[in-house]
Amino acid sequence: MRALLMLLSWVFLQWQLAFGASYDGPRYDYYASTECKTYPEAPLYDGGILADRTGKIPMTYYKMETGVYSPAFVLYNLTGTTRYTFSCWVKIKGTVSTLLKARLSTETSTSKCVGTASAKSSCWSFLKGGFVLDSPSQTSILYFQDVEANNAIEISVTSPSLQPFSVEQWKTQQEENIRTKRKRVATVHVSDSQGNHITGASVTAQQLSKDFPFGSAIAKTILGNTAYQAWFAKRFNAAVFENELKWYTTEPEPGKLNYTLADELLEFVRANQIVARGHNIFWEDPKYTPSWVQNLTGDELRAAVKSRIDSLLTRYKGEFVHWDVSNEMLHFDFYEQRLGYNATFDFFATAQQSDPYATLFMNDFNVIETCDDVNSTVDSYASRLKEIKEGGGVLEGIGLEGHFSKPNFPLMRAVLDKLATLKLPIWLTEIDISNSFDQQTQWNWKEIDTTCRIVANYYT
Ligand SMILES: *[C@@H]1O[C@H](CO)[C@@H](O)[C@H](O)[C@H]1NC(C)=O
Ligand SMILES: *[C@@H]1O[C@H](CO)[C@@H](O)[C@H](O)[C@H]1NC(C)=O
Ligand SMILES: *[C@@H]1O[C@H](CO)[C@@H](O)[C@H](O)[C@H]1NC(C)=O
Ligand SMILES: *[C@@H]1O[C@H](CO)[C@@H](O)[C@H](O)[C@H]1NC(C)=O
Ligand SMILES: *[C@@H]1O[C@H](CO)[C@@H](O)[C@H](O)[C@H]1NC(C)=O
Repeated sequence: MRALLMLLSWVFLQWQLAFGASYDGPRYDYYASTECKTYPEAPLYDGGILADRTGKIPMTYYKMETGVYSPAFVLYNLTGTTRYTFSCWVKIKGTVSTLLKARLSTETSTSKCVGTASAKSSCWSFLKGGFVLDSPSQTSILYFQDVEANNAIEISVTSPSLQPFSVEQWKTQQEENIRTKRKRVATVHVSDSQGNHITGASVTAQQLSKDFPFGSAIAKTILGNTAYQAWFAKRFNAAVFENELKWYTTEPEPGKLNYTLADELLEFVRANQIVARGHNIFWEDPKYTPSWVQNLTGDELRAAVKSRIDSLLTRYKGEFVHWDVSNEMLHFDFYEQRLGYNATFDFFATAQQSDPYATLFMNDFNVIETCDDVNSTVDSYASRLKEIKEGGGVLEGIGLEGHFSKPNFPLMRAVLDKLATLKLPIWLTEIDISNSFDQQTQWNWKEIDTTCRIVANYYT
C-alpha cells in the first residue's frame, strides 16, 4: 500500500512537472463576433476595470478636435507594459454605416488606435482591440471617432469592457495553451525482437522535424549559395518565393513564359522537405502588374487572366501548399476596376478548376499589424472574405502579411479572434519587424511567433 501511494505521488509529481501548476489569474476571453446583431451582448469580464464598485460603468463625453462630442471613458492610473484588452458593442444614428475607431489619448502621447468596427444604424457591431502604453498614464481618455468625420452622426456604445493582463499573466496563458493544445502525452512501449515487453529500458527521443510550419521568404539569391541553403534548411520548414512566381517574372512579355527561377527554387525546397506557398497569382497593385497587362481591357484581359491561372496551376499542380489568389485586394483594385467588383470570384473558380487540390488564400497587410489603416480593418477583411465565399469562391485560407513596426499584442489577439469567426485557417505569411528597431528590440518581440502558434492551433 505504501509503495502504491509513493508511486501515485511520484506520478502526480511528474504530472505537475509536465503540465505545470494551474493558472489562477484572469482568463483571456477569446469571444468575438463579426455579425451585426439586433441586441448587444453582455460585456466581457463584467466590464473589467471600467466597472466601478457597484458594477456600473461610468461613461462620459469627450470633445474632439472637430468639435464633436464622442462617448468616452476616463481611465486613471494605467500602467506601462500592461496589456489592456478592450471591447464594446457600437451602433450609429444619422447614416446607414460607417467605420468607427476607438482611440486612446493620454496626457503625454498623441492618440492611438485601439480598435475598429464597421458600425451600422440597424444593428449592433462588436468592436474588439487593445493597447499597451509606453509609459504609465495618470489620466487617459478612450473615445470613439467616425473616420469620415461626419459631424451629423451619433455614436452609441454599450457593454464596454477593459481588462488588464500583466506580461506574466499573458505569457502564462500562452504557455498553458501551447502545453494543452499543441502537446500530447506519448507512451512508448519497448519490446524485444520476440515481442516480449521490456521493463526499465532506457529510451531517448530526438526531434528530427517539426510539424508546425515556420518559414521565411527566399529569393533567387539563394540559388547556388550552398552555405545559405544549409542555413535555411536547418531552421525553416516553410518558404515563400519573394518575386519568382509573380506574373511580371514568369511572363515579362505576352506569351513569353519563363519559369526558370521558380523551377530552381522549387527544386531546392523539394530537396529539403520545405513546404512552399504559391505567391501570388494576381497582385491588385497596378505597379506590380506586368506592363503589357496594364494596357489590356475587357475580353483581352479576361483571356490573359485565364491563361495565367491555367499555366501556373497546371504546371505546379500539387507543388505549393497554398496559392495567394488575389494579393492586397483591400488596398488596390486593378482587376475590379477593369473586370467588375466581383472579378475575384472568377479567379477563384478558374484556379479551382485548374487544380482542384490547390488551397486558395487571400493575403493582405495592415490587418493584424495596426488598426490605423482604414483600407484594411479586420471587419472589411472579414466582409470581403465572406463575399467571396458567398459568391462561390472556394476560399480556404486567410493570409496576414505581418509587416510590423511596434506590435500591439492585445490588438493582434483581438483581430485573430474576429477572423477566427470565419472558421478558416489563418497564416501569417510575411512576418517581419521594421529594421528601424535594433536587433535586441526585434528579438524581444519574437512573441509575435508565439501568438501565431497559438492561433494556428485553434483555427487550422
Ligand atoms: C491614481 O494614483 C494616484 C497616485 O498614486 C492616487 O492618488 C489616485 O487616487 C489614483 N486614482 C485612482 C482613480 O485610483
Ligand atoms: C528565363 O529566365 C532566366 C533567369 O532569369 C534567364 O537566364 C533566361 O535567359 C530566360 N530565358 C529566356 C528565353 O528569356
Ligand atoms: C501601353 O500603352 C501605352 C500608351 O498607349 C504605350 O505607350 C505602351 O507602349 C504600351 N505598353 C505595352 C507594353 O504594350
Ligand atoms: C486607401 O483608401 C483611401 C481612401 O478610401 C484611398 O484613397 C487609397 O487609394 C486607398 N489605398 C491605399 C493603398 O491606401
Ligand atoms: C457581386 O456578387 C454579389 C454576391 O453574389 C452580388 O450580390 C452583387 O450584386 C455582385 N456585384 C456586382 C457589382 O456584380
